[in-house]
Amino acid sequence: MNRIRCTKFLLLVVFLGLLAYLMLKDESICITVNSVHNPMTAREIAALLQEDEKTEKPWTGRKRGKILSRVKDNEEVEALEGKQQSLLDHLIKARKMEEELKKNIIRLTAELRNVRKSRGGSELKRLMGAEELNLPTVFVITPTFKRFVQKAELTRVYQALKPVKNLHWIVVEDAVNKTDLVANFLKTSGLKYTHLNVRTPDILRRHRNELRRMKPRGVVQRNLGIQWLRENINPHKVSGVIYFADDDNTYDSKIFDEMRWIQRVGVWPVAFTGAVRWAGPLCKNGKVVGFHAKWGRFRPFPIDMAAFAVNLKKLLIDFPNATFVAVEQPGMLESSLLSQITKVEELEPVTPNCSKVYVWHTRTETPKDSILGERQLIKKGMPSDKSIET
Ligand SMILES: *[C@@H]1O[C@H](CO)[C@@H](O)[C@H](O)[C@H]1NC(C)=O
Ligand SMILES: *[C@@H]1O[C@H](CO)[C@@H](O)[C@H](O)[C@H]1NC(C)=O
Ligand SMILES: *[C@@H]1O[C@H](CO)[C@@H](O)[C@H](O)[C@H]1NC(C)=O
Repeated sequence: MNRIRCTKFLLLVVFLGLLAYLMLKDESICITVNSVHNPMTAREIAALLQEDEKTEKPWTGRKRGKILSRVKDNEEVEALEGKQQSLLDHLIKARKMEEELKKNIIRLTAELRNVRKSRGGSELKRLMGAEELNLPTVFVITPTFKRFVQKAELTRVYQALKPVKNLHWIVVEDAVNKTDLVANFLKTSGLKYTHLNVRTPDILRRHRNELRRMKPRGVVQRNLGIQWLRENINPHKVSGVIYFADDDNTYDSKIFDEMRWIQRVGVWPVAFTGAVRWAGPLCKNGKVVGFHAKWGRFRPFPIDMAAFAVNLKKLLIDFPNATFVAVEQPGMLESSLLSQITKVEELEPVTPNCSKVYVWHTRTETPKDSILGERQLIKKGMPSDKSIET
């Protein structure tokens, strides 16, 4: 068993080493890699072929009879045409190989990561640079709305996202216009981000005498985030996952590197949800075999919004119309999307055996004293310095 692993590991190292060597050694490989995004134009191909002719010039210096030379010319033309065709064939083949290589790299980097984990190997650290190039992107959709503690909450989320590689944060404000607070916050974050806004329509807004849980929040904002991805990301070129990270949770950065490799829909436990210490999937032998929760077990997918992520292709290619649906029954928002795109049997366990909690459904306490005191100061015409943002 150990020997097999060891051999596999060595093969991996050799393969990646070879790849890195080839890429460094031969610039032309880099060119073909780029060419997927930037395909060679017909003119470029023609120029390449012309260059070929120039360097060879097979007929120069051969002065024989007129007829003989014409026959020769024809032969040369045919030979060149043959050569052109074979070059084009090579080009097509190279493209196909490149696609295969890319797929292999993604698969191998995933395996490499697992091997590295089990060995804790520092000798592989230097190879990780190559891995980053092909890491699937984590698209994080965060709905947010103006409130006393908004910036504090966004800051906590931002600090969890900051060390994560290949991450794209899509922040969607529940507002008629984008606010300066969020715009400036994102601008100075140093993260790759997209700032959107959409006001929740009146029928979906909670009114004074309604229970909070009867009107799910962030529905149109999350759907706008999905829509943005459908309109702006090409899932045939970009691999990645989509995660719905509300701004009131606490995230361990580790969860983003776990979810990155999800192929369909991945799930994991979340603390302080389902009216228990933690709620989420029960997993066995790489399968989800049930769910743990005290509240909400009637739901088709009794899990929290923060407990799952979806492969980009699932929502962009396989189910291009799937959206969150704002039903009035509490706790049904997650199931409203998930039941359109997956079955329980197809769920992928994330974090080993679904055994680690990397997300906590924390709720920041509303600082009532500060709110009340500030109101009194405003009344007196002596508010806290407005130029200091909180
Ligand atoms: C939103 O922005 C527009 C254009 O700047 C402005 O006319 C409008 O009053 C703003 N609405 C709100 C609710 O701030
Ligand atoms: C998505 O919706 C469009 C327009 O409503 C429809 O034409 C299309 O068939 C739907 N696609 C799927 C996969 O259901
Ligand atoms: C996986 O989780 C299940 C349920 O919590 C547990 O019964 C099982 O022993 C675990 N298996 C491993 C290999 O940790």
